[in-house]
Amino acid sequence: MDGWWSLGGALFLLIATLLTLYFYKINWIKDLRLEGNGKKVLANHLDSKKRKLGKLPPVYPNGWFALLESYQLGKKEVKHVAALGQNFAIYRTDNGTVRILDAYCPHLGANMAEGGRVKGDCLECPFHGWQFRGSDGQCAYIPYADKIPHIAKTKTWKCCEANEIIFVWYHAEGLQPHWEPQTISQVSTRAWRYRGRNEFLINCHIQEVAENGADLAHLSAVHGPPIFSSKVTNYLSSFARHSWSNVNWTPHNSYLEFQESEDTGSKKPDGENLRHRAYMTLRHRLILFEKFKVMHLDVDVQQVGPGYVELMMHTPLGSMCIFQTVTPMEPLLQKVTHVMYSPRYLAPYASMLFLGECLMFERDVAIWNRKKFEKQPLLVKEDKSILAYRRWYAQFYSQHSLSYHSAMRSLQW
Ligand code: FES
Ligand SMILES: [Fe+2]
Repeated sequence: MDGWWSLGGALFLLIATLLTLYFYKINWIKDLRLEGNGKKVLANHLDSKKRKLGKLPPVYPNGWFALLESYQLGKKEVKHVAALGQNFAIYRTDNGTVRILDAYCPHLGANMAEGGRVKGDCLECPFHGWQFRGSDGQCAYIPYADKIPHIAKTKTWKCCEANEIIFVWYHAEGLQPHWEPQTISQVSTRAWRYRGRNEFLINCHIQEVAENGADLAHLSAVHGPPIFSSKVTNYLSSFARHSWSNVNWTPHNSYLEFQESEDTGSKKPDGENLRHRAYMTLRHRLILFEKFKVMHLDVDVQQVGPGYVELMMHTPLGSMCIFQTVTPMEPLLQKVTHVMYSPRYLAPYASMLFLGECLMFERDVAIWNRKKFEKQPLLVKEDKSILAYRRWYAQFYSQHSLSYHSAMRSLQW
């Protein structure tokens, strides 16, 4: 009898995999600002105009934000990215260094990322050929002038490259970075290889995306039904569910010490300051026929600052990881990417898990796209991590962090 159950289980998994691959093909990279097409798009658009904003926190937190993935910027290439209320000209010099300058040239305002050329460490403006140094923004050359005025300078942005992602440092008070995203050795040594990426554009406040990690109760409601459930497969899905247990969200100890020292007015603790980090653990099992537990997956999640998350996934066959980046392209428009790495021998399994992650994430997106930000949520005791998360996240706002309305004003012509 057990043999029949196992055969049934295997058949079930095979059908589930085929169905998920089918959905995967359709949903690979998708702009989920407006779902569907034709009349549905119009209806959603009208809906979004009626949507309530709620009382929002500032829209651009302080921290490192992903602008590009490393492969998207070759040597001597320049790209324009508009995010965080800024226009960035991002370029890579011949020796591989990434530089970021304000895209608009201080001479007559041309966008240097559109047609500009990389000359050594400098970026040359396409309009009159002025060249600006990537290291300090100083104008180093004007092709038709004898003298370079010392005020001929443009703004430079601190950047770093970790885990094949290019980050920019944004701080509303202009402070220098006191932490950086760390490189994961399995990725830098190429022991783990690239397995795939996805990209979403989501209409919500940046804080909502990572709040998911501290919102333990949504896991069964949103991520309980199997990933392949649909009208066609509802019959199959009644035999399977995802179970999430061992769920826990906690900020790094140094944040708790920092909070305590703030509360008591005592001296801030010395030592390594990792209060920009928070941790989450969860354990996944796919339960078949309420009897078999398959697809064992233990996930260690690290939230690193306001816009970057590392997910380490441990399976009985080995470990792999997903990097999630969240960058505000506009005050309420987040670009979210996921990039996956795994050892070579795990490639097919990693691709299947990545597909599951994409489909699960789409469920969150559907909610984020339509919800309002609830500043004073009506919570029960079991929701307490959400408040802890919000207190932790507040460290990324400062006196001059832009409100929604001032950020919108600065985007208008
Ligand atoms: S506008 Fe850039 S050199 Fe003139
Ligand atoms: Fe979620």
